[in-house]
Amino acid sequence: MSRLKYSRLVIPRKARDDGVLGLVALYGPLGFVEEGRDLVACFRDADAARRASQALSASRVRFDLVTDLAEGDPLEVFRAASRPFAVGQRFWIDPGNPSDSRPPSGRIALRLPASTAFGTGGHESTRLVLLSLADEPPSGFQVLDVGTGLGASRAFGFDTDADAVFTARENLARHPFGARVTLHAGSIEAVAGVFPLVVANLLPEEFLPMRAAVMRRVAPGGRLILSGLPLAREERLRERLTSRRWQLSSRRTEGEWACLGLERASS
Ligand SMILES: C[S@@+](CC[C@H](N)C(=O)[O-])C[C@H]1O[C@@H](n2cnc3c(N)ncnc32)[C@H](O)[C@@H]1O
Repeated sequence: MSRLKYSRLVIPRKARDDGVLGLVALYGPLGFVEEGRDLVACFRDADAARRASQALSASRVRFDLVTDLAEGDPLEVFRAASRPFAVGQRFWIDPGNPSDSRPPSGRIALRLPASTAFGTGGHESTRLVLLSLADEPPSGFQVLDVGTGLGASRAFGFDTDADAVFTARENLARHPFGARVTLHAGSIEAVAGVFPLVVANLLPEEFLPMRAAVMRRVAPGGRLILSGLPLAREERLRERLTSRRWQLSSRRTEGEWACLGLERASS
């Protein structure tokens, strides 16, 4: 995964007056921090940082500029401090740094080191998907995961966010079932065939534009698990999505989120 870069413009404290701050602010820094006796301006754009430093030179203000620093991983501290947790009766999620910690017996370990592309694996909408899968395990058949990250007899996952796909690949490599999952970065148009189970944990804004394409991928008699629905909008969405051919088979809620199971008629 590519790391974002930033630049640091360090200005000794004695030079810190409102004029200097105002001057540097003209070049669009991300923000200012005080470090001991220094004032530090951080920039995303290295050229902007260089222009700011030229302006400081012209004003005879001393500074120190370092560009192209790799941004620290904001979830590093979270991973170090996190502990595994259970989801329902079946799953055990470890959002910490990769380790060979053992799950309690009878539970399936999902090792998902917290990342910006994947979150911590503990979001209600993800939990609702796992609880739905635990109730009706997809054993022995193929699963399509829209906006990715799962485990079945054979699973296909895709995501339009390439970073999410890279992270999912790394996560799969930590699991014995990883080799049974195929991932691609792209949209649903590249997915062929139909599946007995399709899982989509997406916001309505993401799901609705591809609703027809996703529902076409559910085999007759198959099931769609749709999570990521804000509770306040769920009733309206449920009305839109159910029909004579699409019956509601399950409904779960947790916090502000809902997850629906929809069954496609067999003919
Ligand atoms: C809420 S996350 C779900 C992640 C994981 N499946 C889970 O349940 O925790 C939704 C994912 O859907 C992806 N996504 C959004 N729109 C998409 C689209 N049109 N096609 C494929 N993936 C999409 C996002 O990039 C994001 O990674």
